Amino acid sequence: MNKRPFTFLDNEKILVAPSILASDFSKLGDEIRRVENAGADIIHVDIMDGHFVPNLTIGPPVVESARKTTPLPFDVHLMLTNPFNFVESFAKAGADNITFHIECLDDIDRTICEIRRFGCSVGLSVKPKTPVEKIFPFLEKIDLILIMTVEPGFGGQSFMSDMMGKVSNARQAVGNIKKPVHIEVDGGIDEKTVMTAVVAGANMIVAGTSVFKNKKGADYAIAAIHSAQEVFRTSF
Ligand code: DX5
Ligand code: ZN
Repeated sequence: MNKRPFTFLDNEKILVAPSILASDFSKLGDEIRRVENAGADIIHVDIMDGHFVPNLTIGPPVVESARKTTPLPFDVHLMLTNPFNFVESFAKAGADNITFHIECLDDIDRTICEIRRFGCSVGLSVKPKTPVEKIFPFLEKIDLILIMTVEPGFGGQSFMSDMMGKVSNARQAVGNIKKPVHIEVDGGIDEKTVMTAVVAGANMIVAGTSVFKNKKGADYAIAAIHSAQEVFRTSF
């Protein structure tokens, strides 16, 4: 399948990226199709190494199998101490965008180049304790800023509204450069918290629990998140 780097997605549109971490992994293909049919724009895939974060998830073979179940673009979020060595295998397994953390131990420029080498768009992420300004020197070279709204490692945690200052600083910084850069938020997002994040400037919304485990269904959850488009604005 050809790559769909996020460079081509509208960064003023609310895009919903359900995180498969909250899905039933015993029927992963069905779960992905369920959110695709419910209106998801992107599939978010959390990769954890048990070192950068205190949890383990999945590796390239699972991503490769999941890739075959949907035409939606794959947003691979690497929570790894050393992401560089895994870029090639996740890109070949089907990632369209690869996001890694500014707190990782690998060289940032070198890792950005490695992701581009395989035709993927590039995201850089900050944990809650890291200022978003650390990402700004790399802004011209990336396509996405991911602001964590929970401490990474687990799904189902509470949204940290005190991260919204970072979201608006990121939106402002992105407004000053020519190329489109997405502002993504991840953790504790549901139909209520999404409004706060979108008002602050986020356009790409990761949601695990609130989509896969929503009692009213994934259609309801995704439509509710999309409705935040009404409060989205680009100037601050
Ligand atoms: C946390 C992950 C998130 C997580 C979000 O480390 O990066 O993508 O799955 O899950 P919820 O939406 O349940 O907070
Ligand atoms: Zn994530």
